[in-house]
Amino acid sequence: MAAVDYLERIPNNVNLKADRRLLRALEEWHPKFLDWWTEMGPLGFQAREVYLRTAISVDAKGWAQFGYLRMPEYRWGIFLAEPEPGRAINFGDHQGQPAWQEVPGEHRGTLRRLIVTQGDTEPASVEQQRHLGRTCPSLYDLRNLFQVNVEEGRHLWAMVYLLDAYFGRDGREESEALLQRRSGDRDKPRILGAFNEPTPDWLSFYMFTYFTDRDGKYQLAALAESGFDPLSRTCRFMLTEEAHHMFVGETGIGRIVQRTCELMREHKTDDVRTFDGIDLRTLQRYLNFHYSVSLDLFGSEISTNAANFYTMGLKGRFEETKKDDDHRLKEATYVVTTLDGDRVVTREESALTTLNERLRDDYIADCARGVARWNESIKRHGIDVELTLPHRGFRRAIGSFAEVRVSPDGRIVSEAEWDARKHEWLPTEDDKAFVQNLMRPVVERGKFANWIAPPARGINGQPSDFEYVRLD
Ligand SMILES: [Fe+2]
Ligand SMILES: [Fe+2]
Repeated sequence: MAAVDYLERIPNNVNLKADRRLLRALEEWHPKFLDWWTEMGPLGFQAREVYLRTAISVDAKGWAQFGYLRMPEYRWGIFLAEPEPGRAINFGDHQGQPAWQEVPGEHRGTLRRLIVTQGDTEPASVEQQRHLGRTCPSLYDLRNLFQVNVEEGRHLWAMVYLLDAYFGRDGREESEALLQRRSGDRDKPRILGAFNEPTPDWLSFYMFTYFTDRDGKYQLAALAESGFDPLSRTCRFMLTEEAHHMFVGETGIGRIVQRTCELMREHKTDDVRTFDGIDLRTLQRYLNFHYSVSLDLFGSEISTNAANFYTMGLKGRFEETKKDDDHRLKEATYVVTTLDGDRVVTREESALTTLNERLRDDYIADCARGVARWNESIKRHGIDVELTLPHRGFRRAIGSFAEVRVSPDGRIVSEAEWDARKHEWLPTEDDKAFVQNLMRPVVERGKFANWIAPPARGINGQPSDFEYVRLD
């Protein structure tokens, strides 16, 4: 491989220049990352120029530089949010002590596991989305897919930076392992369930970026509270990029909803499949699936791990410092929805062991806001249907609800009722085949697939018919 000027190549604000050992570790890792990108990153289009956003610094001017480039030449940089002078640990047993600038020895293993678990999701989603380019609904959407992909690549860099810079040899081994696991692989799967599910079509992609990237937002926000300052600062910067991923999801589904409603009005029917649209019932089933898979990512309602992460000062709550309590929670309680025999009940539990559920609650409230906006759009078209979030117990594989079958409206149902009705609640083989069949590439400038409306505006002030990907 030709000599690369890494100081130029890896834009950073971590003074990489001064840390030869770290620079060498990243130089060794970089070609392996590129091999992984070639093998598992977006299929095709690698030689095409794409209108992408690159972060070259963390200030308002530098974090979103737009221009054409080929994906393998993307400058995956390392950025930490600016340090907060005098930042202290804001919760747990170490509350009030200065934030750690080095890894606290006693929490080393736990901290590494948290970083690896977060880091593993980043390349996983790129792998899941690998095949989508060839069925894109427009150049605009194709560009958004690639933007999400390169930034998930950068998020992997962000975690690898922490591992290489702060965890010595074990950290470097973990950095390698992050490139070796594969989404959906039976022998070496990605760590978390949702990241082993396929993303076979664009409807799934938008659901994924709406629901699963939003889980990412909440995990990152909780880690941004960490007493380990480099992790906190890394996550704070990642959150600025994550916002675009969720935007892609929310507007993606919003545009599908809009198009579906237009077709319903135009042809005076609910069954828009005949007109190459995605009917609202199918949208609801996809929503049910992706939402429930994403809820599992928060873990069990009762978790001593979650309590330990908090007590150790490693992972806080969403908006920890805005919460008005003692930030130790030893005596506090929290109300969780759980199972008592075959009944759904609410129960007061220790606030410490229920931190997963609390984060899930924040997430659920956030998910509901987007659903409300889609419903407003349906209403504006004069259509009397609402999309809904299913009950939190629906189709769960982790936590107390994993033991039972729960309908979308929150009833415990028998295995027989589940089998009889699951095709109403979850995407069927027929749905998947129908959606797959709609996935025909549209790559003409300014054109959009029939099942999705054009965006209200383009990227970075460009028109929606801008040449977002140069195909010749
Ligand atoms: Fe990410
Ligand atoms: Fe993301």
